[in-house]
Amino acid sequence: MKIAIGADHGGYQLKNVLVPFIQSLGYEIEDVGCSCEQSVDYPDYALPVAELVASGKADRGILICGTGIGMSIAANKHPGIRCALVHDMFSAQATRDHNDTNVLAMGERIIGPGVAQEIVRIWLTTPFSNGERHVGRINKVMQLEKRFNAQK
Ligand code: RB5
Repeated sequence: MKIAIGADHGGYQLKNVLVPFIQSLGYEIEDVGCSCEQSVDYPDYALPVAELVASGKADRGILICGTGIGMSIAANKHPGIRCALVHDMFSAQATRDHNDTNVLAMGERIIGPGVAQEIVRIWLTTPFSNGERHVGRINKVMQLEKRFNAQK
């Protein structure tokens, strides 16, 4: 299973912690950057991760910025992406179980590396429930995406 990961300068240090952690769990990593703490723009890293996931070239994506907010907003603009901003273990489990999210966003300035690692572990290993009501709600969300794209 391949995980695409990206961060801006606000998430660079946490990305450096998470890359070897995710590899130690047995996943392959595709790191789209950034590669230093110089100021960069989060959409420039959200887009390649979203593209890798939406195209099927990566199975899941993980995005980190200072708050995770910019990354989650940017990723959710991409067709086919369901990105959850998560800073606690319950949400990590629930968003896989209920929303079948394919991208996870976190904020390095909000949580420490230990909590982030546990969130990632839970989010990567929790399957989608496939529950009828959850499938129906996700389909409604994806229909909205189709409707707004058709209006362009
Ligand atoms: C960068 O200073 C910061 O704005 C960014 O990392 C992120 O938190 C945006 O949502």
